[in-house]
Amino acid sequence: MVQIHELIFRDAHQSLLATRMRTEDMLPIAGKMDEIGFFSMEVWGGATFDVPIRYLNEDPWERLRKLKEAMPNTPLQMLERAMNIVAYWNFPDDIVRKFIQLAKKNGIDYFRIFDALNDLRNMKVPIEAVKEVGGHAQGCLSYTISPVHTTEYYIEEFKKLEAMGCDSLCIKDMAGMISPKRAYDIIQGCKDAGIKIPIDLHSHYTSGMTGMAYMRAAEAGVDILDTAMSPISGGTAAPPTESVVAALKGTEWDTGYDMNALMEIRKYFLKVWDRYRHLHRFNALKMDPSVTVHQIPGGMLSNLIFQLEEQGAGDKYQQVLEETARVRAELGYPPLVTPTSQVVGVQAVMNVLHGRYKVVPKETKDYCKGLYGKPPAEIKPEIMEKVLGPNWRDEVIDCRPADLMEPMWDKRKKELEEIDPSLIKKEEDIMTYALYPQVGLKFLKGEAVAEFTSDQLPLPYDHPLMRAAVKSLFPEHRQVWIEIEPPEKRKVGGPAPIPTEFSVEVDGEPFEVKVIPTGGFVVAGGGGGGEPEVPKDVEGGIKSTMQGTVLKIKVKEGDKVKEGDVLLTVEAMKMEQEIPAEKAGEVKKIFVKEGDMVSPGDLLLQVL
Ligand code: CO
Repeated sequence: MVQIHELIFRDAHQSLLATRMRTEDMLPIAGKMDEIGFFSMEVWGGATFDVPIRYLNEDPWERLRKLKEAMPNTPLQMLERAMNIVAYWNFPDDIVRKFIQLAKKNGIDYFRIFDALNDLRNMKVPIEAVKEVGGHAQGCLSYTISPVHTTEYYIEEFKKLEAMGCDSLCIKDMAGMISPKRAYDIIQGCKDAGIKIPIDLHSHYTSGMTGMAYMRAAEAGVDILDTAMSPISGGTAAPPTESVVAALKGTEWDTGYDMNALMEIRKYFLKVWDRYRHLHRFNALKMDPSVTVHQIPGGMLSNLIFQLEEQGAGDKYQQVLEETARVRAELGYPPLVTPTSQVVGVQAVMNVLHGRYKVVPKETKDYCKGLYGKPPAEIKPEIMEKVLGPNWRDEVIDCRPADLMEPMWDKRKKELEEIDPSLIKKEEDIMTYALYPQVGLKFLKGEAVAEFTSDQLPLPYDHPLMRAAVKSLFPEHRQVWIEIEPPEKRKVGGPAPIPTEFSVEVDGEPFEVKVIPTGGFVVAGGGGGGEPEVPKDVEGGIKSTMQGTVLKIKVKEGDKVKEGDVLLTVEAMKMEQEIPAEKAGEVKKIFVKEGDMVSPGDLLLQVL
């Protein structure tokens, strides 16, 4: 018998609906799903912590408690990113342990633990913590193809995870590119090597081969297959539950699930799917077998396209694709999953735009230093030198990254108490703040606003949530003017006066929206950046090489600087970029302020 791990409450809507499914859409059907007899249901972790506090004004802890109440018979599972937990950076051990304790207390039974680099040192503490609180630890390896990621590699690493105390194992094929043969070889190999604990295969439909891979996995003795109810399945999401159940019916791998009950559940989710139709993207549902050649996950590809367009270089797509493969090899073949996909992707974009390793973001440096964990293959000295400079050997760590971190729980708790003790209604609120200090604080203060569903569209144009529409309609523009009827033409008792100027934030990027009286709807601007009186060029002028936001200005006017001193940092493509002085001199003038948007060629400051 094969069992199913059902993904509809986490991975499915993270893959196809930007993680926007709400608790209110889950609870009415939860009882029925609880009766199916799934091996487990994934309901938490990944982006389902971040998105609810950022976009839905929902408490993820409360969601978990309610789901547990509604589904007392099915083990609930979460995806845990090892030392990153449910965020995108490392946390110290005390936070990881505390988080797992709280997650267990609120209803998580199974913890799927994975590390982007498959660095088992990063997985040790979370596995131990899960065992300590009596949870089920599933040791998960990110799947990729490279000279180091051979079938033998996976078998060996899985053996180690079993020895570390894991209760089950999982192959995490986030890009959806595992072939039937590879699935068979790895699972068969694990069984032949004497691995006793259950093995789970997690994949996505991206390449179109996944149904065949699942069949071969069953033949090799896979214990659990990951699927999602059909209304939110296929494409970049998982294979459909009902199809897999039907395919295995009458075979030795029959799940034994009630097809009629599954059809009832399907009907319910068709309505939920429709509720988010503004998030449907046809391309996400199309098969993309090219992933088997370039090995770049679909989500990362669309990100790359967007980032290139943002930098005004949409025509360089092919070059970037090839460069991504090259950078990945040079950086030791990291599996391309958050956060390593971002490191590799942005470095590839930088290399194409500015020359190879001429511009190196902080994240690439951190990666090469070993701060994400040990790269799967060794990085050649010449690459290390390009990234970290001639003394690179002094900067590389050989310990576990979290060994360098101080405990954080008490510090964060004290901070939040000092901000406002009434914000702490429960211990979990401190954790929300510890994981996401800015977004979490805003949420705890009650300042988060729930985003719209399709039923609420169209939104009034002065609705603060118009930002999402503005962003998707006019990604190249930084400023938007909306023209309206002039006041003298408006009827008495007509529409209430609307604000003439407001700024909105899109994924942390500020947009200026100006309302000017004339009529119609006009979008203008683009580039934004700086004050209008900023000159195009001056002697000793230092210009931005990219589209981004000024993060921190590290000098004042009148400061003396040496060549190579960091003058300011710019955030571009979610990466932090240092802008150094090209030669020694004095900072004569600073043309930007922190938070300003800048475009390639914009003057930042003058050093003479
Ligand atoms: Co997945």
